[in-house]
Formats: sequence, C-alpha cells, structure tokens
Amino acid sequence: MADFSELQEKLSGIREQVRAGLQELKDSRSVYEYRKNVMDGKTGLVGALMRETGKLPKEDRAEYGKLVNRLKDWVSEQFDTMDEKLKKAEMELRYAAEDIDVTLPAKKHAAGYLHPVTKVTNEIIDIFSAMGFEIYEGTEIEKDYYNFTALNTPQDHPARDMQDTFYLTDEFLLRTQTSAGQIHVMEKKKPPIKILSPGKVFRSDDDATHSPMFTQMEGLVVDKGITLGDLQGMLDVLVEKMFGEGTRTRLRPSYFPFTEPSVEVDVSCFECQGKGCRLCKGTGWIEVLGAGVVNNKVLEGCGIDTELYSGFAFGIGLERIAMLKYGFNNIKLLFESDLRVLDQISD
Ligand code: DAH
Repeated sequence: MADFSELQEKLSGIREQVRAGLQELKDSRSVYEYRKNVMDGKTGLVGALMRETGKLPKEDRAEYGKLVNRLKDWVSEQFDTMDEKLKKAEMELRYAAEDIDVTLPAKKHAAGYLHPVTKVTNEIIDIFSAMGFEIYEGTEIEKDYYNFTALNTPQDHPARDMQDTFYLTDEFLLRTQTSAGQIHVMEKKKPPIKILSPGKVFRSDDDATHSPMFTQMEGLVVDKGITLGDLQGMLDVLVEKMFGEGTRTRLRPSYFPFTEPSVEVDVSCFECQGKGCRLCKGTGWIEVLGAGVVNNKVLEGCGIDTELYSGFAFGIGLERIAMLKYGFNNIKLLFESDLRVLDQISD
C-alpha cells in the first residue's frame, strides 16, 4: 500500500516535470500533443493519477482526489497560458509574412486582340446589319447537293474543277464555298431575303496566298426588282467603310454557274488612290470579290417565282481582305498566331 506523503511528493514532482516540459515547447501544435500525452486517462503523467486511488487506505482517498484535481486544474491552466502565448506569436509571424505593400505597382495585364479575320468579319457584319441583313451560319460539312448541284453545278459540270474538293463520302463534303448557305436559306424563307453568311470553307489548295481552310462571307438579296445596280450600290457603301472614303468599285465580267451575269468586283487601290503601285501591280485596281445576279435556275430550284423576284449574291474571301488591309503577303501569317505579327495589327 502506497504511503500518502510519498504520493504527495510524487504529485509535486509531476508538477515540476510538467512545468519543465512546457518550457521546452516551441509551437502550439506541440502544446496540443504534449497536453494529450500528459492528460491521457490510461498512460498520462497526470491523467492516470486517479487510477492510483485504489492503492491508498480508504481514509486518504478523498484527500488524494482533491490534490489530484487541484494538480489537474493547475496543469490545465499552464497549458492554456502556454497555448495562448505561442498562438499569439504564430499569428504575429503570419501577419508579418502576409504583409502587403499597397504602394507596389500592379502587374501589367497583357490583353489579347481579335484576330484580323475576326475583325474583318465583324466590320462587314456591322456594315450590312445596318442595311437590314440577317446572319445565317451554315455547317462546314455539307451535302454535295447544296454545295454544287443546287447552285447550278451538277455532277459533270466543268465548273466543279474550279474548286478542288475534299469529299467525305459520295454525298458529303467539306463545303468549298459559303454559297451553299444560299440554298438552305431560300428553301426555308420566302422573299424578301437579305442574308449574310460567314464561315470556314475548305479546298485542296496550298501556297502563299491560298490555304486549305479559309473564311468567306456570302451575301444574298432576293426581292422584287433587284438588279446588278443594287449590288454595286451596296458594295460601294461596303468598300468606302472598309478601305476608306473615296474607294470606288469596278465590275468586270466573269463566270460563276450560280449567277448570270457574273462579275468580278475590283476596288480602286487604297494604297495609291488608283495611280498604280506595287499593291495593285500598277493597275490601280484590286480584285476583292465575286458576285452576280442570281441565276434563275437556282431561284426556281428553291421554288422562287422568277417572274416576280430576282436577286444578287456575292462572296468575299476574308483572309484576302485582311491581308490587303493589314499588308500581309503570306496567308500563313494569319494562321500562325505569331505575337510579333499580331502585335503590329493591334489597333
Ligand atoms: N462562291 C464563289 C467562290 O467561292 C464566290 C462567289 C461568286 C459567291 C459569285 C457568290 C457569287 O455569291 O455570286 O469562288
């Protein structure tokens, strides 16, 4: 049976032990760990003291319990104080580390720019929507029928050779021209029709001025009494806004199966004002698009009464316009996303 005074001595030993142990602790985490250890009900220096009670004579037990509880309170207080002290120091360290100098200049944000082809597309859309045009976006995979046959270019037509086509199956292909959209629109909508159709087109063609994928903008107007004069009137508005005031248009006869008559549209050179320079190869004119009066065969194929209605259409290659506007001589520069190039046209 343990001696009471011996136990008392043991308790004050423990008190000293805990006091010394606490002094060793460097952070709040170790205070937590140490406390768990010391207070453990089975193995803890303090936590397990009550288990000794049974070893004492009955008359000493109450007194011993009191002493142990007092010790527990004291130990607990010591831990709280140490925990508070260390946590405060830790917070101060953290605040110092996270201190922000609000006078530092902010990091520069490098903003991107719209791609030249996107800019040209948006510009044309802005100009034509002011004239009441709607946008129709077709699909890049198209039926042979819409891309060719319905545009008066049947299977054995020599004009099919004008465009080197990527066929997917006998029936499906990658559209070679946004003109395919004309048919979709006319099948669904009755005149008056005024649409603009931008999109990617594909041809097996690859050199400095041709890419297998490029972008076109199609225009189609069908209404009563539409003539080539209406086309030229609208194009005059377009080129003045795109290339600057005073830019004029010139129509030259051409051939497209879906227009009759067909024209090639030139603009007066915006670089030399028509005097002749390197850009216009000394001619004073630059070719920008194909157009014409919609062939009656095309209108009739879509169920439009050609006694009542007529139309005009045009197709613009947008990379070509971007190259002219921004002075590129190689179409590949438009697909390489080279920042040195894009930075120069970041107006
Ligand atoms: N689709 C023609 C091409 O890609 C361009 C074109 C010419 C479109 C005349 C038209 C047009 O709408 O009337 O070469």
